[in-house]
Amino acid sequence: MLRGPSSFLWVPVPPAAALAVALLSSLSHCSFLEPADPVISSLSPYFGTKTRYEDANCGLLRDPEVPRRDPELLEDTCTPLQLVALIRHGTRYPTAKQIRKLRQLHGLLQARRPRDDRADAVGGRDLGAALANWPLWYADWMDGQLVEKGREDMRQLALRLASLFPALFSHENYSRLQLVTSSKHRCVESGVAFLKGLWQHYHPGLPPPDVADMECNPPRINDKLMRFFDHCEKFLTEVEGNDTALYHVEAFKTGPEMQNILKKVAAALQVPFNSLNADLIQVAFFTCSFDLAIKGVKSPWCDVFDTDDAKVLEYLNDLKQYWKRGYGYTINSRSSCTLFQDIFQHLDKAVEQKKRSQPVSSPVILQFGHAETLLPLLSLMGYFKDKEPLTAYNYKEQMHRKFRSGHIVPYASNLIFVLYHCKNAKTLKEEFRVQILLNEKVLPLAHSQETVSLYEDLKNHYKDILQSCNTGEECKLPKVNNTSDEL
Ligand SMILES: *[C@@H]1O[C@H](CO)[C@@H](O)[C@H](O)[C@H]1NC(C)=O
Ligand SMILES: *[C@@H]1O[C@H](CO)[C@@H](O)[C@H](O)[C@H]1NC(C)=O
Ligand SMILES: *[C@@H]1O[C@H](CO)[C@@H](O)[C@H](O)[C@H]1NC(C)=O
Ligand SMILES: *[C@@H]1O[C@H](CO)[C@@H](O)[C@H](O)[C@H]1NC(C)=O
Repeated sequence: MLRGPSSFLWVPVPPAAALAVALLSSLSHCSFLEPADPVISSLSPYFGTKTRYEDANCGLLRDPEVPRRDPELLEDTCTPLQLVALIRHGTRYPTAKQIRKLRQLHGLLQARRPRDDRADAVGGRDLGAALANWPLWYADWMDGQLVEKGREDMRQLALRLASLFPALFSHENYSRLQLVTSSKHRCVESGVAFLKGLWQHYHPGLPPPDVADMECNPPRINDKLMRFFDHCEKFLTEVEGNDTALYHVEAFKTGPEMQNILKKVAAALQVPFNSLNADLIQVAFFTCSFDLAIKGVKSPWCDVFDTDDAKVLEYLNDLKQYWKRGYGYTINSRSSCTLFQDIFQHLDKAVEQKKRSQPVSSPVILQFGHAETLLPLLSLMGYFKDKEPLTAYNYKEQMHRKFRSGHIVPYASNLIFVLYHCKNAKTLKEEFRVQILLNEKVLPLAHSQETVSLYEDLKNHYKDILQSCNTGEECKLPKVNNTSDEL
């Protein structure tokens, strides 16, 4: 079952592991747990960063408190020493910008004058009328905030992680838990909901108190760490604030794949073709995902699209992530090296403490951020890199791409580093090992494709980033020499 150096005593798969078989399913498409509506389940795999966690992670057990073991996790000869988890906030409301666009589209539908009544007369459905009458229940104040489903995402994640790593999340270790978060409301609230989930784990049936009374270290806001992209001058100038940096995204919006969808949608909704654009189409697609993720309802917005449309819209979303957060520009990922180093500083410290036979000061470190926090870091580490870049012109060639944000960073996505203290079965020497989990599944290491690595080997693989990447330097803008102009 386990791949790795044979000198090491691997654990036989415990019977309890049978419960976790589903956990091992790959990162590829899920067959959905709920048979639900065929329209919803056929579009759900393409919601990109607006994907529900359970849709990206089909193996989740119904009851998070059922003790669970992942046969790929190390046990017996290894003891978990520390866990550093990077967690994207849970399901959220649309942003104010998305709500404004949705309102614009809704207005368009309400103002439209259907060409004739034949659609109704022949018994066909007037989709435009159904959409015009569908309540627009999103208001400006919601602006990207965490929704109740998002709190539930976090509580459930907490319960599952606590049952996966009972010692690390033991009540005794709870007071040493460290929580760092982005200042965004949805991240702070995600942290709070996670802690409430842990409280539920320790005190089943008791209502959780205020976080202030929860006996752990108070959550700390750190945007330099969790929103490094806002603090990187070079990224802000060359990518974020640069009109041409997302060239491929803009070109794809006006390319043939999108134009086809625009034509189809204009005809189906009976609105003028030139009143629509790719942004409005995208917001209609997102509304299908929001209505599903937030309200758990199947919205008529989903009826606007078929799976082929959904694949194109997923690509549009992925293109943006690729150029703004992924491999598109080196600075996207280099700006995250402080966060990467921070993770290894925690691991280093735990190793040192263990070597000196001291208790680990922080067995659990939780860091709450964004898809924009996780994607650059995963790119820095070399994950989900396709041979060819994603461009406006290779949609077909990229059908089987690795860079699929819906599989990598759905709501509540998480990247977890687990440090183990082990005894080598042959030499009886103590060793430190690491596993990386993405969305609760073991992520094979980039350098070996193994499910586990010696801590030293992992550090060695990433030594360039650990030793030579300095965000201060990386994020500096190239010096413009205008001395000659001044002369
Ligand atoms: C607390 O965490 C450490 C790992 O850092 C672990 O060895 C220890 O068993 C945990 N304590 C309890 C009471 O489970
Ligand atoms: C904006 O992006 C383009 C494309 O990558 C690049 O050539 C240009 O130098 C960038 N502009 C700035 C001001 O960085
Ligand atoms: C370039 O010149 C402008 C105006 O003369 C000056 O304000 C700016 O500081 C100069 N930039 C650099 C990098 O020397
Ligand atoms: C700036 O440009 C001038 C003229 O081209 C050159 O003599 C000078 O060395 C340059 N300064 C720096 C700091 O590169």
